[in-house]
Amino acid sequence: LIEEKVDSVLSLMTLEEKIGQMTQFSGHGTLTGPQINDDFKEYLEKGQVGSMFNVFGAEGLRKLQEQAMKHSRLQIPILFAADVVHGYKTTFPMPLAESCSWDLDLMEKSARIAAIEATSAGISWTFAPMIDIARDPRWGRVMEGAGEDVFLGKEIAKARVNGFQGIKSYEDFSEMHTMLACAKHFIGYGAAEAGRDYNAVDVSDRVLRETYLPPFKTSVENKVATFMTSFNTVSGVPATGNKYLFKDILRGEWDFKGMVVTDYTAINEMIPHGYAKDLKQAAEKALNAVIDMDMNGAAYIQNLKKLVDEGAVSEGQIDVAVARILELKFLLGLFEDPYRYMNTKREAENTMKEEFLVEALKGAERSIVLLKNEKELLPLAENTNKRVGLIGPMIKDRKSLNGEWAIQGDRSKSVTVYEGVTNLFSNAKFSYAKGADLMGGSDAKEIQKAVRVAKNSDIVFLALGEDFNWSGEAASRTDIRIPKAQRELMHAIKKTGKPIVLILLNGRPLDLSWEDQNVDAIVEAWYLGIKTGDAIANVLAGKYNPSAKLTMTFPRNVGQVPIYYNALNTGRPFDQNNPQDYKSFYLDVENSPLYPFGYGLSYTSFEYVDMQLSTDELKEGGTIQASITVKNTGKYDGEEVVQLYTQDIFASVAQPVKQLKGFQKIKLKKGESKKVTFDITPDMLSILDINKNIVTEEGKFKVWIAPNSSNVQNEAIFSFKH
Ligand code: IFM
Repeated sequence: LIEEKVDSVLSLMTLEEKIGQMTQFSGHGTLTGPQINDDFKEYLEKGQVGSMFNVFGAEGLRKLQEQAMKHSRLQIPILFAADVVHGYKTTFPMPLAESCSWDLDLMEKSARIAAIEATSAGISWTFAPMIDIARDPRWGRVMEGAGEDVFLGKEIAKARVNGFQGIKSYEDFSEMHTMLACAKHFIGYGAAEAGRDYNAVDVSDRVLRETYLPPFKTSVENKVATFMTSFNTVSGVPATGNKYLFKDILRGEWDFKGMVVTDYTAINEMIPHGYAKDLKQAAEKALNAVIDMDMNGAAYIQNLKKLVDEGAVSEGQIDVAVARILELKFLLGLFEDPYRYMNTKREAENTMKEEFLVEALKGAERSIVLLKNEKELLPLAENTNKRVGLIGPMIKDRKSLNGEWAIQGDRSKSVTVYEGVTNLFSNAKFSYAKGADLMGGSDAKEIQKAVRVAKNSDIVFLALGEDFNWSGEAASRTDIRIPKAQRELMHAIKKTGKPIVLILLNGRPLDLSWEDQNVDAIVEAWYLGIKTGDAIANVLAGKYNPSAKLTMTFPRNVGQVPIYYNALNTGRPFDQNNPQDYKSFYLDVENSPLYPFGYGLSYTSFEYVDMQLSTDELKEGGTIQASITVKNTGKYDGEEVVQLYTQDIFASVAQPVKQLKGFQKIKLKKGESKKVTFDITPDMLSILDINKNIVTEEGKFKVWIAPNSSNVQNEAIFSFKH
């Protein structure tokens, strides 16, 4: 039926109108309301705009839609899109932070809330989730993903796609608060050489298939409606013109039926990439790679007709792309009512509802990773009457708290650390000094003031970090330490001898080697969105006992990068306990990371005991139950992310030293124990063999159940036989 509807429109369209549908324009970063320049007006009225983004607000979008509907010949509605990444008006923690919660329901819910707010404001397509596996903290866009791991990346891709789309079948897109999700960026964007954004990517087909493709495949299996190309080349071919990626893998192997949009002017960028001699050839290459929509590049609108006239591409190719775009518009109900998402009353009702803010606080608390807590310095009792020094540029900073890619979040509404802390610890005696600028040079006088504050305090909350612009797109760094002026401040405070709780607000894993040695507690708070200050205060006071665990490794220094837990072993693995020469090691730093994947502390302690396997021989079609008892041996109720890792010890293709295969987040009251059981089935142990077939090979496997990826205390071995 839907095909008939699509065909009935398609058959009426001129070639120019079809190419118009394949064109997406940006309203050019207007955060204050829609603006439209004369070009847009002309194209809109000629029915030659398929989609627009960077335009906001139900009322403004209605006006744009009216313009298209009143003047265009066929009255095809515009599809409005936006980067609704971690919240719309209610901002949630940046995605990397949220992934550290390992709480899939929570992630699905925050995407759902973002979809409710955005669709109430006229947007029915988000450019999210970003599901690029990322192992290089120099790359600023790590903040936007789910970290380094493939298994977790797949689970989170599924949660976020389902959160935005909320569909069981494609018909459900007609429900008011579902929005089209976009799996981005296809592919390899996270593997940019040297962590420099947009840089070349050269990964083997094996690495592509084992590491970078799986979350995207999962998103297809979960009915993601759209894909976005990545800016980078993959083995010399820009992704946006890469037939192998889009035609062979995405459309061919995975049978993806949805729509593909380019990244921003990515077709044009094939020229500087050295892959197209001019924009016309770039457009031809993109269409031949089956790319449906041109984001803001005007490559299609200026060239496709000429290419058809010259016979370089066919109108049939264009029809296929346009049919996909029209189909989504039909599914969203836009043909029935082009204004259905643009209702100012619904927009007002569904913006920053109290229940959304409650979820934002919950998400923020659950994203904070406690990295160090010497001598149980934290939690600090809520009714403490201690003198607390609040020091650092992040104490009163408001503008960075939402982090990058929170385009519609009102930065002035986010709760600062100062507000959160002074509000909660009502009996404490606070004094404050900024001490340094976030990114500027150091100022001796400011540091002296801060030292005075520290000297007159019993404990210091030192809030440091990166300006939010220092992560996100085009925000790569070669030095991933806390910026220099802030380090100088920290060194001066250290000299006072006062206990220091370092609170970090930043967008990437940092080199915290000095901090790990020199401060008493480290609270990795990332950018937490609208409820930042309240969430941090609740964690400092133990009102929420931290439970988050890192989803990206923290290196000892930038020289270790890329560093990730599931690496191959080398033929000369180094044993830290039995150091030998001519092994694989560094002369100046240990191989191990500072804080490994899966690591994070709680105010309570957990003991893992009595690991058992139901059998030590797994058979085809069979299951092994791997179980362990986790005890809360500390002083507080708490939550623990229990992780299952396996290793295929010997295989036809070398396998990583370990791979995450499952996890459970459990709650344990003080003194309570729980048995945690994982089912291990043969397909969980599958590998890509030398011919890239998915197989589970006979042999021995190691299994660990552990609190993080470096912990090997509970290990067992089993074998698999066909
Ligand atoms: O969606 C983004 C993409 O991730 C990076 N370039 C710009 C796009 C639209 O804002």
